[in-house]
Amino acid sequence: MKNILSANQFNKEEIEKILASASKMEDAVNRGVINEVLKNKIIACIFFEPSTRTRLSFETAALKLGAKVISAENAMENTSTYKGETIEDTTKVLCSYADVLVIRHPEAGILDKAAKVSTKPLINAGDGANQHPSQGFLDLYTIKKEHNRLNNLNIGFGGDLLNSRTLRSLLPLIRAYEGNKFYFISPKELELPRDFIEELKRSGVIFEELRSLEEALPKLDVLYMTRVQKERFLDVSSYEKVKDLFILKKDHLKAMKLDAIIMHPLPKINEIEKEVDDDPRAAYFRQAQNGLYVRMALLLHVLGL
Ligand code: CP
Repeated sequence: MKNILSANQFNKEEIEKILASASKMEDAVNRGVINEVLKNKIIACIFFEPSTRTRLSFETAALKLGAKVISAENAMENTSTYKGETIEDTTKVLCSYADVLVIRHPEAGILDKAAKVSTKPLINAGDGANQHPSQGFLDLYTIKKEHNRLNNLNIGFGGDLLNSRTLRSLLPLIRAYEGNKFYFISPKELELPRDFIEELKRSGVIFEELRSLEEALPKLDVLYMTRVQKERFLDVSSYEKVKDLFILKKDHLKAMKLDAIIMHPLPKINEIEKEVDDDPRAAYFRQAQNGLYVRMALLLHVLGL
């Protein structure tokens, strides 16, 4: 049985297989010829944190492949978690209804507890600031589609890196490819934790930490902007202090390469000026669309299909 709990669990061969499968899914969707291989399957999408893209694209992916969907959104309040049921008990029960469980939860690492008791494949749809592996795959797929390669790229992550599970999910996947250099661009308050940085150094990742977008922009092939994650701050005043420190403005685009792409996992709030959306380099809505094909591939992957 295959779970997808973390992007760290994949080797290059598996990554390549999933990207190839996603590409097949995209082609099948575009040609309207999808094989409904999941016709007798039920996919449970249980979201203890808000979501637009992840939940609805997983549900769409399941439906496109012929599966049926059961789901709970706002699951902190709308499931028996509200009455104090443990994640282990909830998981055991869901396994008696569904063939795959897709779960998002605000607590980092909680999916490991669920996996210990799960008898069905489990997909982590985001656990706190820890991991969001399906996002990592759709980001990787997007970079490959937009740049036609996954090596020798300068990739900048900008904004709230401290709380970014999307960075922690893309990085282990793209590290499988050679010649990439990473720029971590954030204010001090939102920089990557030092133990994470030390681990990157130990494993030979080439990177620089920068404090200004302006310094990084001319070098980048990919600018991956992130939202300052209000929900991860202990108090509103700490959030207010940093929320507007990093904003990508239309004027910034002049400094960027003509074939660079701007990515964002979405939702974006005010970290990207609205006018940037009209620039062809803004890839974030194409990125969100790729989530459908990648999640179709991931459902097939966990079911061994
Ligand atoms: N990128 C992402 O996880 O979006 P949602 O929170 O809308 O699912």
